[in-house]
Amino acid sequence: MNSDGTDTRVDYSRVFTQAIDRLHAEGRYRVFIDILRNKGMFPNARCFAGHNGPKPITVWCSNDYLAMGQHPDVIAAMEEALHDVGAGSGGTRNIGGNTHYHVDLEHELADLHGKEGALLFTSGYVSNEATLSTLAKILPGCVIFSDELNHASMIAGIRNAGCEKRIFRHNDLAHLEELLAAEDSAVPKLIAFESVYSMEADIAPIAAICDLADKYNALTYLDEVHAVGMYGARGGGISEAEGVAHRLTIIEGTLGKAFGVMGGYIAADQTIIDVIRSYAPGFIFTTSLSPVLVAGVLASVRHLKASSVEREGQQASAALLKTMLSEAGLPVMLGDTHIVPVLVGDPVKAKRISDILLAEYGVYVQPINYPTVPRGTERLRFTPGPSHTPEMMRELTQALVEIWGRLELRKAA
Ligand SMILES: Cc1ncc(COP(=O)(O)O)c(C=O)c1O
Repeated sequence: MNSDGTDTRVDYSRVFTQAIDRLHAEGRYRVFIDILRNKGMFPNARCFAGHNGPKPITVWCSNDYLAMGQHPDVIAAMEEALHDVGAGSGGTRNIGGNTHYHVDLEHELADLHGKEGALLFTSGYVSNEATLSTLAKILPGCVIFSDELNHASMIAGIRNAGCEKRIFRHNDLAHLEELLAAEDSAVPKLIAFESVYSMEADIAPIAAICDLADKYNALTYLDEVHAVGMYGARGGGISEAEGVAHRLTIIEGTLGKAFGVMGGYIAADQTIIDVIRSYAPGFIFTTSLSPVLVAGVLASVRHLKASSVEREGQQASAALLKTMLSEAGLPVMLGDTHIVPVLVGDPVKAKRISDILLAEYGVYVQPINYPTVPRGTERLRFTPGPSHTPEMMRELTQALVEIWGRLELRKAA
């Protein structure tokens, strides 16, 4: 209370309400759709929101890209592990939580990327944050060169590193070189980028970035989260497909998308793995992944190393959906990847389309708004997989054409 009697105390509740009100005003308040997937029936699921009982839906925005989360080998491995060793790991990796499943999976992942070692984290987000923040602290004076469209987890790692950073324009080699050349040769440098940019559906020029790294003596850190399992003869990502894995210092991936379960990892030389294992708080001070999850991932990684059926099915589905949407005049953002974004350019309209699709057509696709993508580029992001049939794609295309007409939305140029 002030001496004049006015109440100067913080009204916490008001501040929180205002923060939420801002999101509503911008049309980007997030509503989570309440679903249950039907095991063995991917992409079919049940939706529990706003209906009388669960309503059948088709999921078009899952990152379980290859439906490995429902693969019989993965389920069987998880069931076996659960009955064999129980539910949780019981500790951090250092204190009781280093199960044999974890050790096996790290060997499997190191082999996948042709690296000496690998290290598991509880998610891809944590692997990026923990590794980048720790690396830069180990390298005094380090400057990190980061693609402007890098994922929030890399940005968090770079920020928490507290080091200097230079942001280069998306996939712009000339700009990256200009920034590298401006630094002293004695300065430690790290280039952090992604292979598949999942919101843009484009791919980084990995070999050319490695050339620049060689020229300016920089380390490289590649996030292959949207590529592992899906590209390369054994699912080692774009770096495997392009034969450049050996040129990268660190490859990072997730176990929660194409591998269908949960977790994250890095693969690199043994010394780097040892440094992160020994210094990264995000690795050290947390319970290790459940052995049940790790057993499922092991089955998934092993399956996708040997089988390309899922990868080929996904590529065929993505190509067909892109063709159908383009031929229907919808503003599909064409890229070389399995992701099919359709540009809307307005958060309120993107949400409206998604609501109509769910309520009237049983199609589930989440609108993608700022800060996931820049303002004005809001979109719907479809992730067709091997289990999406041509019939489902025809129905989706017809639904979108009808909604585009109804809402008088902009068609493709
Ligand atoms: C490029 C990128 N990196 C990292 C992550 C985080 O991975 P995870 O979902 O395993 O935490 C994501 C997740 O969406 C991502 O898109």
